[in-house]
Amino acid sequence: MTKWRFHPACLLFPPLGEQELQALAENIRERGLLHPITTHNKLILDGRNRLKACEIAGVEPRFEEWAGTGSPLEWAISANLHRRHLTGSQKAVLALEMLPMLEAEAKERQRLSTGRGKRSPIRLATSTAKRGKASQIAAKLTGTNSAYVEQVKSISRKAPELVEQVKVGSLTVTEAARLSKLDSFQRESFFAAKQKQPDEKFNRLIRQVLPKKEPAADADEGFFTNSTEVWCGDSLKLMRSQIVDGWANVICTSPPFNRGVNYGTYDDNRDQSEYEAWLDEVFKEFHRVLTSNGSLFLIVGHSPRHPWTALDMAKFAGKYFTLQNQIVWVKSISMNDDSQGHFTPIPGDRYLNRNWDFVFHFSKNGTAKLDRKAIGVPYVDQNNAVRSGDGDDVRCAGDVWFIPFETVHRGDERANHPATFPPELAERCLKLAGCVEGGVVLDPFCGVNGLKAANKLGINAIGIDIDQQYCEAAASAAGTTVKLFPNR
Ligand SMILES: C[S@@+](CC[C@H](N)C(=O)[O-])C[C@H]1O[C@@H](n2cnc3c(N)ncnc32)[C@H](O)[C@@H]1O
Repeated sequence: MTKWRFHPACLLFPPLGEQELQALAENIRERGLLHPITTHNKLILDGRNRLKACEIAGVEPRFEEWAGTGSPLEWAISANLHRRHLTGSQKAVLALEMLPMLEAEAKERQRLSTGRGKRSPIRLATSTAKRGKASQIAAKLTGTNSAYVEQVKSISRKAPELVEQVKVGSLTVTEAARLSKLDSFQRESFFAAKQKQPDEKFNRLIRQVLPKKEPAADADEGFFTNSTEVWCGDSLKLMRSQIVDGWANVICTSPPFNRGVNYGTYDDNRDQSEYEAWLDEVFKEFHRVLTSNGSLFLIVGHSPRHPWTALDMAKFAGKYFTLQNQIVWVKSISMNDDSQGHFTPIPGDRYLNRNWDFVFHFSKNGTAKLDRKAIGVPYVDQNNAVRSGDGDDVRCAGDVWFIPFETVHRGDERANHPATFPPELAERCLKLAGCVEGGVVLDPFCGVNGLKAANKLGINAIGIDIDQQYCEAAASAAGTTVKLFPNR
């Protein structure tokens, strides 16, 4: 049999498995080869499996030269995509593998258009030209999204073996991306666990191989500092009576929203105008106690029934401060067939599940300096790191922060407080504000979690809450005791 050579586009798709190939050969033996094999410039462009099946069946294959006018690469891709049922993840791998071919086609087009090449009878399509970045073009051709393609690119640098698994459909891109962040030992443990428990969910298997977080150890090691104080009392009164002007470098807090949340001591059902007057006083006081170049981070939720809560609060703060950045805290997200984080269910058919909250960053004049690289992320393309010219290989992470908020388990610390934020969120704010060891942070509505980030980073902090139980929990996590203010 002739030794055929294959067009690279033809090799992009995984070959049929043994069973499917035998079935195809059987079909060809019975009914003959219905669709001829397509060649292009003496290469097999499409029909690798049919060729192999003809060989098995002992049937002479028929060939037909590709007569298309567009790009042979695009044609081969679309012909195969229609036949195969590939997932979004598999398409992303395909798109990545196409990139060098797209670049080669583009170069060839350029060579022909500038007259440097001999005029060839092949008419190279302009359809892929001038349509943006190669990964975007590849994503479009394969029907996946370019962020996915970039993700596969990054995985292929860190753990190329995972890309093979995505290609054959045993992992999604999101799963491979998570695995690529583990060290090789953890990855091996993951696959060993998967072999033993093939039906177990991915997230549960991951949890089996990650080091366990013991809350008690956190309290002892990570969150202990002597410079933390927890004050139990009314924050407005305590700020006025206890804190001098310009004391805090950062205020990072989540005030009550007057939405009827079931707090222990505080009644969250106040008359709205009384609440707004109080909030105005609170922000005025924040302005006084914050240093001139300090930052105020307000973490504020909203809900379908109270869609204006966050924006209204930002407007009240805006009376005294300049809104410098608006950050979206994404608590849970779905991409293609994968979801991460906890989804707060919303019943009925009017509203979508709520997956995010606002983090408003205010400063006195909109000029607070930020340490963006302190929470930066690595460049996906290292060439951009060089181009940025600052010698760093991290870039600003932007204003959308994905910090999954796990489901509350009965009896855990969060369950004792109805409206906590994760310490990781405050940690990002503090690092971004450049508030490092020696700085001072205030959380005037600290609940149980408000001080944990400052403690972990070794930053002096004062937390205030009106509820003694919350204060006890916050103080115990910080390894300190509560200061009670009798006139609270
Ligand atoms: C949204 S929660 C903050 C939760 C906190 N960020 C956490 O992660 O645990 C608001 C908190 O403000 C407290 N609070 C309400 N009014 C207060 C007041 N006048 N002075 C001090 N704390 C108050 C409530 O007890 C509640 O714990």
